[in-house]
Amino acid sequence: MLKFFKKKKEDKPSLMADTSKSTDTSFYPLTISEVRRETEEAVSIAFDVPTEHQEKFTFLPGQYLTLKTTIANEEVRRSYSICAAPSDGELRVAVKEIEGGKFSTHANRHLEAGMTIESMPPMGNFKWQPTEEPSHVVGWAAGSGITPIMSIAKTVLESDSSSTFTLFYGNKNSNSIIFKDAFEDLKNTYVDRLEVHHILSREDQGSDVTKGRIDGEKVKAFNEKFFEVGATTAHFLCGPLGMIESVTETLESLGTPKEKIHFELFNTTAAGAAKKEVSSSVSGASAVTVILDGEETHFEATGKEFILDAALDAGADVPYACKGAVCCTCRAKVLEGSAEMVMNYALVDDEVKDGYILTCQAHATSDKVVVSFDE
Ligand code: FES
Repeated sequence: MLKFFKKKKEDKPSLMADTSKSTDTSFYPLTISEVRRETEEAVSIAFDVPTEHQEKFTFLPGQYLTLKTTIANEEVRRSYSICAAPSDGELRVAVKEIEGGKFSTHANRHLEAGMTIESMPPMGNFKWQPTEEPSHVVGWAAGSGITPIMSIAKTVLESDSSSTFTLFYGNKNSNSIIFKDAFEDLKNTYVDRLEVHHILSREDQGSDVTKGRIDGEKVKAFNEKFFEVGATTAHFLCGPLGMIESVTETLESLGTPKEKIHFELFNTTAAGAAKKEVSSSVSGASAVTVILDGEETHFEATGKEFILDAALDAGADVPYACKGAVCCTCRAKVLEGSAEMVMNYALVDDEVKDGYILTCQAHATSDKVVVSFDE
């Protein structure tokens, strides 16, 4: 039940998807329609989607695209959250240039309208399912973590005339705030229903509470001043590991049920990302079968190898992007045998219970393992 052809703003069709999860991990060529400079360090990139693929590229606010291109003869893949709301009728991501970042530097310095880039259809568990009930949603973002939150905020405010959104957004200074003007415009449209609080680490705004980084102490202070934990429908967090952990812990300690807290991490390369020890009773290598698009690939993997890497070595064109437990592009289901993950910041508890794994983080723990990317 896709609502793709419902007409919205400026007669652009809404790109709102239904609740179904995309299992299509193929790449499709998209033409860049615009590269817009958002800050000195960040651009947003809009894509034209060929008519025949438009239905595949519908999305829920909060989801991301996995982009693939070749830079200096090397294939590079990265996931970027969609910053447009489905009702905007466009597909747009924002990319902040990171020091030494191959894709982000390329995107900020070399991409331009008319170029083609490959993308998987939108995916990801970090998403807001629009509701016709009034909601009070709180967004917590740092830096480029604002991209999915922007899409969610717009959709929350549009979907019900009494829904409200409160944003806490951390940056170095006012020049590094992505979508500053866009949020000002939104505030003018939703005067009584949108609150935006900027927290700056290197600029004084005249108040201690808005100086520094978003952490547990700030959450407590904001809870007393700007929102009431008991009256919130959901919290969406996007930023570095430290922020995610401290905000989540504090929200929970204030009485927020776990299922109301949704998060997406930038990456897990930062020190402190906890890795689980995986022990296997398998002596030697496991016999692994991966199924992708109905085709089977058979190979052996030792308990030290990740299933994804072993599958790629065996020639299977299995999907991946971050290889860091964050994006869930490499999600697959264990149909036979067992496998355990060392890290998981992308799958929700129900998926893990149903047998899904992040193959980039999973070791085979039985003699025979069958894993499907088609489920
Ligand atoms: S490739 Fe991103 S979680 Fe595995």
